[in-house]
Amino acid sequence: RKTPQGDFMRPATRTRMSSHSKKTNGVGVQVEETRICVVMVGLPARGKSLIAQKVVRYLDWLSIKAKCFNVGSYRRTATPQPAASFFDFSNTEGERLRKAAAEAAVNDMCHWFHSPGHLIAVLDATNSTKSRRRWIKERCDSEGIETLFVESKCDDEELIMANIMEVKTTSPDYVGQDPEAAAKDFRERIKMYERVYETLDEDEADMTYCKIIDVGSQVIINRIQDYLQSRVVYYLMNLHIKPRSIWISRHGESEYNVSGQIGGDANLSPRGAQYAKLLPGLVAKSAGDRPLTVWTSTLKRTAQTACHLPYEKLSWKALDELDSGVCDGMTYGQIEKEYPQDFAARDEDKYNYRYLGGESYRDVVIRLEPIIMELERSENILIVTHQAVLRCIYAYFMGVSQEQSPWMEVPLHCLIKLTPRAYKTYEERMSADVPAVSTWREKGSKAEHAQTPGPSARPSPMIPAMSK
Ligand code: ADP
Ligand code: F6P
Ligand code: PEP
Repeated sequence: RKTPQGDFMRPATRTRMSSHSKKTNGVGVQVEETRICVVMVGLPARGKSLIAQKVVRYLDWLSIKAKCFNVGSYRRTATPQPAASFFDFSNTEGERLRKAAAEAAVNDMCHWFHSPGHLIAVLDATNSTKSRRRWIKERCDSEGIETLFVESKCDDEELIMANIMEVKTTSPDYVGQDPEAAAKDFRERIKMYERVYETLDEDEADMTYCKIIDVGSQVIINRIQDYLQSRVVYYLMNLHIKPRSIWISRHGESEYNVSGQIGGDANLSPRGAQYAKLLPGLVAKSAGDRPLTVWTSTLKRTAQTACHLPYEKLSWKALDELDSGVCDGMTYGQIEKEYPQDFAARDEDKYNYRYLGGESYRDVVIRLEPIIMELERSENILIVTHQAVLRCIYAYFMGVSQEQSPWMEVPLHCLIKLTPRAYKTYEERMSADVPAVSTWREKGSKAEHAQTPGPSARPSPMIPAMSK
């Protein structure tokens, strides 16, 4: 019998299309061999750092190597807790130190770009004057690095005050200080910047930029050139800051889960059907009367799990479980017996291992990208999906690494609530008191699925259960 061995590392990744100087990155997505510096622009408290960090997390998740260089943290080494007057542009010492911090950040960034595969850096600073931006562009031009300026412009006083209270009063710049005094000083700091701030305009028509006005109610783009730039811009255009949560659950226990088989399109087991009945109550307890939409896969077990939920439903092919190809319908024990080398290879590099005629976790991430984009655009969503898919979605929001995410333990009959906030996504878990098998297999074990007393009896936080 033909074994799938050898097929597990064959993404088109390391091939080069020399004539176009293009290559494919780890996800099999073609990217130009260009390096891009995303230069943030805007007054303080306009969401620049938040946007910068989200872009890096999104690109990382897609295996596009990215890094954020925050000028404020360079400035803090010499001036950890400046008063607003430090940012007065007539303060020559302040100006000197701030320029030095910007130079140090840009130098480190240029050095970072020297490593192969390092494609996108985000320079997170106010970059609020045309001369500062011109200097960055010239420096990047001389290094062969493209620049994409991203400005966040917002004059909504109430929103800016809320931003200050949410993130600035707890910034390292104000550690140990009274939050009211910190907020007052920060407003003074903004005034200093307002005196010299120049928005991106026609004087900079030669530059590539994206100007996000009033949190995306208007977006102006100029000279967006290549694939990666447009991908970043498209992502930015989908971001919003309305408070919302995302609930994710695996389907209820299926007949295949009970028999220890993977893949397939089985019905729910009686205990799975019981979870489906309890799910509306669990969701209502967590979401109250917030309007929400339910997303399922196209497989029966997710539709059956969602069938009692009184919300609008949408089924997505992209949410179907990782395709296990020739191993579909087998137990882990059978796979180990019939395809021992593959079984070991999957343990060795679970993220990249691709089942013969099936998928790897890396493949699943590629097909989930439109789901992530849609999730960024949406408000309250409940996703009923599968073990591997849930791990990938969870990894995006929680920033879990590719080594860890395929090994995370995600019990059946458990609803997870994710609430994205500035810089952090909060997680809450609610277990339904319905026993289920565990489908988690520890690295290196041949485990058939174990019968467990039920998720409520298992202390199983979403800790990556790897690194054994
Ligand atoms: P900055 O880096 O510009 O000083 P931060 O990123 O630290 O600002 O600010 C984070 C805050 O900005 C969060 O409260 C977030 O909700 C808010 N925010 C995010 N995006 C935007 C935007 N496009 N415009 C205004 N505020 C935003
Ligand atoms: O066992 C349930 C299941 O959803 C299978 O259908 C799927 O192949 C498997 O989990 C994915 O988990 P892992 O990547 O840990 O094998
Ligand atoms: C800072 O020092 O916190 C900072 C963001 O500096 P700049 O205005 O130079 O970007």
